[in-house]
Amino acid sequence: MTVPLKHSDSITVDVALGERAYDIVIGRDLLGSLGARIAALRPGARTAIVTDRNVAKHWLDKTEASLAQAGIATSRIVVEEGEGSKSYAGLERVSEALIAAKIERNDLVIALGGGVVGDLAGFAAAILRRGVDFVQVPTSLLAQVDSSVGGKTGINSPQGKNLVGAFHQPVLVIADTSALDTLPPRQFRAGYAEVAKYGVLGDETFFAWLEANHAGIFTGGMAREHAIATSCRAKAAIVARDERETGDRALLNLGHTFGHALEAATGFSERLFHGEGVAVGMVLAAEFSASLGMIAQADAERIARHLAEVGLPTHLGEIAGFTQEGLGDADRLMALMAQDKKVRRGRLTFILLEAVGRAVITRDVEPALVRDFLKLKLAGRA
Ligand SMILES: NC(=O)c1ccc[n+]([C@@H]2O[C@H](COP(=O)([O-])OP(=O)(O)OC[C@H]3O[C@@H](n4cnc5c(N)ncnc54)[C@H](O)[C@@H]3O)[C@@H](O)[C@H]2O)c1
Ligand SMILES: [Zn+2]
Repeated sequence: MTVPLKHSDSITVDVALGERAYDIVIGRDLLGSLGARIAALRPGARTAIVTDRNVAKHWLDKTEASLAQAGIATSRIVVEEGEGSKSYAGLERVSEALIAAKIERNDLVIALGGGVVGDLAGFAAAILRRGVDFVQVPTSLLAQVDSSVGGKTGINSPQGKNLVGAFHQPVLVIADTSALDTLPPRQFRAGYAEVAKYGVLGDETFFAWLEANHAGIFTGGMAREHAIATSCRAKAAIVARDERETGDRALLNLGHTFGHALEAATGFSERLFHGEGVAVGMVLAAEFSASLGMIAQADAERIARHLAEVGLPTHLGEIAGFTQEGLGDADRLMALMAQDKKVRRGRLTFILLEAVGRAVITRDVEPALVRDFLKLKLAGRA
C-alpha cells in the first residue's frame, strides 16, 4: 500500500449517513482553514469554542484567528483538562456558557480538544435548545481516529462512564494532524492502540502496513495522515452500517470488554490510560480466542508483538502497581465486565478473532471459560 500524498494535500473521508452525512477532513495545518470552511458551511452563524486548558495553551489563539479572519463571531469556553470535566457539573458550566454566549438554533458549537471535550461539547450541543449543530476539531490521536467520528456524545455518571448521553452527529470534522505534535507521547501511544484496532478487527493489509510504517505516524510524516484517514474510513463504514450499535458497530469494542474491566480495576486513573487498557484488552481477546481454538497462537503473538514494539503495554504485569490484590482476582474482573453497559442482561458478549483482520461478535460466551482464562493470566502462567 502506498501513501499517495504530498504534505500540502488533505484527505476527505465521507461519513455516509443520509441527511446526517458529513465530511472528515484530515491534513497538516488545517486549523487555519477552519474559519473559511465554517463560513461556507453555515454563513452568518455565531460560534462558541469549547476546549480545555491544555489545548487552549497550544491551539486556541490559532483557532480564534482563523474564525476572525473569516468574519465569524466567536466566544471561548475553557474547561479543566481531564475526565472530571465530563460530569454533570461540567455540562452545566458549558451549557450555561453557551446560553450566555447567545448560541441559538442556527449557530455552531466547536469542540476543540480530545475525546473529553468532544464528548462534553457534543452532548451540550445535543441538548442546548433541543439541539444545535457542532463541529469537531479533534486534537488527540484518539479523538482524530475514534471519538470525533460516529456521533456518540455524553458525560459520566458517578455510577459509571458514559452512562448519560446522546447520539448527535457533528456537521464537520477537521482533523489537523499537526495538532498532535504537542500531544504528550504517552497520550499519543494510547491513541495508537485504537489505530491498530482497526487493522486487527477488519483489515490485515492495514495491520501489515502499520507493522512496517508505524514510526512515521509517531514522527509526523505522511504516514500519519494515511493512518488517520484509514482509521476514520474504517469507523465511518461501520457507523454507516449501524449508527446506533444494534449490530456491527459492536466490532469497534474489540479489546474493550477486558480493557474496561482493567480501567475500572485501576480506578480510571493515570495508572492505565484508555488506549493502554485497549492494548492489553486486545491481546487478551486474541489470546482468549486462541485458547478457544479460533485463531492461531502465532497470530495472537503477532498482535502483541506489534503493540509492544510501539511501547504499549500488552500484558497484565505491565500495569502500574500490578498485583493480584491491586487488580483484583478473576472474580472481581468478571464482576467489572458484567457492569459494562455493553453487556445485555448478564450475557457476556465478546469481540473475538478468527484471524488478524477478522473479528467476530460472539454472544453468550461461557463465563466459566473467561474466568479460568483470567485466572491463568493473573497467575502469570500463560
Ligand atoms: N464518543 C466516542 O465515540 C468516544 C470514543 C472513544 C473515546 N471516547 C471518550 O474520549 C475520552 C478520551 O479521549 P482522549 O484520550 O482524547 O482524552 P482527553 O480529551 O482527556 O485528552 C488527553 C489529554 O491530552 C490533552 N490534549 C489533547 N490534545 C492535545 C494537544 N494537541 N496538545 C496537548 N495536549 C493535548 C488533554 O488536555 C488531556 O490532558 C474519554 O472520555 C472516552 O470516554 C469517546
Ligand atoms: Zn476505545
